[in-house]
Amino acid sequence: MALSRRKTIALLGGGTIAAATAGYFSTRTPTKALAPWRLAGQYEDARMRHLSYAVLAPNPHNMQPWLVDLRREGEAMLFVDQTKLLPHTDPFNRQITVGLGCFLELLRMAAAEEGQGLRVTLFPEGFDDQALDDRPVARILWEGASTPDPLFAQVFERRSTKEPYDTSRPVAQTTLDAIVAVASTAKGTVSPEDIATLRVITDEALRVELLTPRTYKESVDVMRLGKAEINANPDGIDLGGGPMDLLADTGLLSPRTLMDPDSMAYKEGFKAVTANAMTGMGFIWQVSETNTRPDQITAGADWLRLNLACTAEGVAVQPMSQALQEYQEVATFFDEVHKLLAPEGGTVQMLGRIGYAAPVAQSPRWPIDAKVLNA
Ligand SMILES: Cc1cc2nc3c(=O)[nH]c(=O)nc-3n(C[C@H](O)[C@H](O)[C@H](O)COP(=O)(O)O)c2cc1C
Repeated sequence: MALSRRKTIALLGGGTIAAATAGYFSTRTPTKALAPWRLAGQYEDARMRHLSYAVLAPNPHNMQPWLVDLRREGEAMLFVDQTKLLPHTDPFNRQITVGLGCFLELLRMAAAEEGQGLRVTLFPEGFDDQALDDRPVARILWEGASTPDPLFAQVFERRSTKEPYDTSRPVAQTTLDAIVAVASTAKGTVSPEDIATLRVITDEALRVELLTPRTYKESVDVMRLGKAEINANPDGIDLGGGPMDLLADTGLLSPRTLMDPDSMAYKEGFKAVTANAMTGMGFIWQVSETNTRPDQITAGADWLRLNLACTAEGVAVQPMSQALQEYQEVATFFDEVHKLLAPEGGTVQMLGRIGYAAPVAQSPRWPIDAKVLNA
């Protein structure tokens, strides 16, 4: 999340600070935390090479809950790291599973780029609908052949763009059609009436998440404040860049101030996060008939494809998941969204706003090396 440099300087009290901090602002990129974007593809071992792309997948709160066991030749077992779950906003680990689906699809594409096929068996030892557990999420065999996927070309440019979009620039129906064409579970709208309705639902559901202490705290608990913290823990919600670093270094931005509704950090954070929903210039979503773990994995694969297709079209996208979440305080939004987007039944697995926005930075990642079990 970004806060403009000018605004931060105003908050800190003026021009003299601006002069003193010019150098500071130019050195704040968390280079170490971004290294996996440069390391992707740079491994000798084919499995590591393909997995090094998969870690760049979108995933809830950037928790990167993947773990892989590579002890058997030509095979990887994918597990979920149960310390990286989000029990308050994602009580049944549905969204975490969707993120694992994004990971598996990017893995498939990275292998296919070299003509390599993968044979994936989902949940080979079964699954629990209520909670992910110690059993493997997927067994992956490097087997057979495949053909490259054109969407893979967007892998380094793909983002979840969490900024206001340009409300003077509509998204054309033909652009939306090109995006939703890449995923069979996807639908979308750029109709002004639908946009107005979905803006309000996504905005209100987000406000409830922020105003519900336990769900808001779940986010604060995984916030990385400033460059040093982001480099040390390249996951979670990264609040970096010069202005954020300065606020973190001066103590104005801290877990304590973020939990204090009277603080500037809380008020500005609230304003920044809620500035987005009402600027959606279209929406895309995915519905699955049933809501099994494999359905959630498929939804993730399709979300990754939609995200890459948006990139290819020059369109920004941000998942707006709050109305899809399964906790009591947002239940009315959940019902409203399902009535609207899945009138014949089923589960809305993803909902995102689309529009045009200036480019944003890559988000941090752990390198694949940090995710290999028994290495
Ligand atoms: C299942 C799922 C749900 C997500 N929900 C949200 C959301 O509600 N709001 C949001 O800003 N980003 C959401 N994201 C995007 C992640 O925050 C994002 O992928 C992650 O921070 C990594 O950033 P990147 O996609 O730019 O690489 C979601 C992603 C997934 C896969």
